[in-house]
Amino acid sequence: MKRIVVLTGAGISAESGLKTFRDSDGLWEGYNIEDVATPEAWERDPALVQDFYNQRRRSVLEAEPNAAHYALAKLEAQYHVTIITQNIDDLHERAGSTNVVHLHGIITRSQSSVNANLTYPINGWELKMGKKCELGSQLRAHVVWFGEAVPMIETAAKICSEAELFILVGTSLAVYPAAGLINYVSHDVTKYIIDPNIPTVSNKRIVEMPYKATIGVPVLVDELIENAQ
Ligand code: APR
Repeated sequence: MKRIVVLTGAGISAESGLKTFRDSDGLWEGYNIEDVATPEAWERDPALVQDFYNQRRRSVLEAEPNAAHYALAKLEAQYHVTIITQNIDDLHERAGSTNVVHLHGIITRSQSSVNANLTYPINGWELKMGKKCELGSQLRAHVVWFGEAVPMIETAAKICSEAELFILVGTSLAVYPAAGLINYVSHDVTKYIIDPNIPTVSNKRIVEMPYKATIGVPVLVDELIENAQ
């Protein structure tokens, strides 16, 4: 089966009711990154950071996958699909995708604040201060903050280098190293970009689809499924 790699960002979950980061009314309009999404913020005011991610988790648990998530799951019937997502929600999994790499972690799990490899499921939306990992340190959200390493980046780069077809959905490509992943995809490979505001990429064989995810992704998936038969 042909290998399709899909790189997704906040835009794919926008129509599920989850805010993006950099659109007008995006999350970073209401919060300073330095206050809630860095190791320094956690040092300074862990309760504030915990609360920020508790709110994010609550929104994610209330959200449902949309037509774009479901369409990508459907693609697995005809293709070898790997989804690399920058999103910390679990909507790809809930839509049925079985091969999802979370570059920036996943909000439904907690993480030891002294060892990022120790992660645990969270029951419900609230991760309370005082809840500790097996080493006795406070649990935090399992998300990658600005200034932290992205442990999955090498795995993701290898996956991109093996892509035979590449789809980019709903990301401004403003954050590295994720934004650099498209450069690992071969110049010979067709790259579809689905986003009402197409990000700038310097690469060959780009097909621009300036549509919202719930419109663009199902159209492309239907076309790909038809062509596979
Ligand atoms: N369908 C498709 N794309 C959309 C939609 C939609 N309905 N609505 C918005 N978009 C697009 C925007 O045009 C923009 O290009 O989604 C993109 C959102 O960009 P960002 O808000 O920058 O989100 P993302 O690229 O995922 O951010 C990357 O930044 O703060 C960090 O860790 C966070 O993973 C996140 C990273």
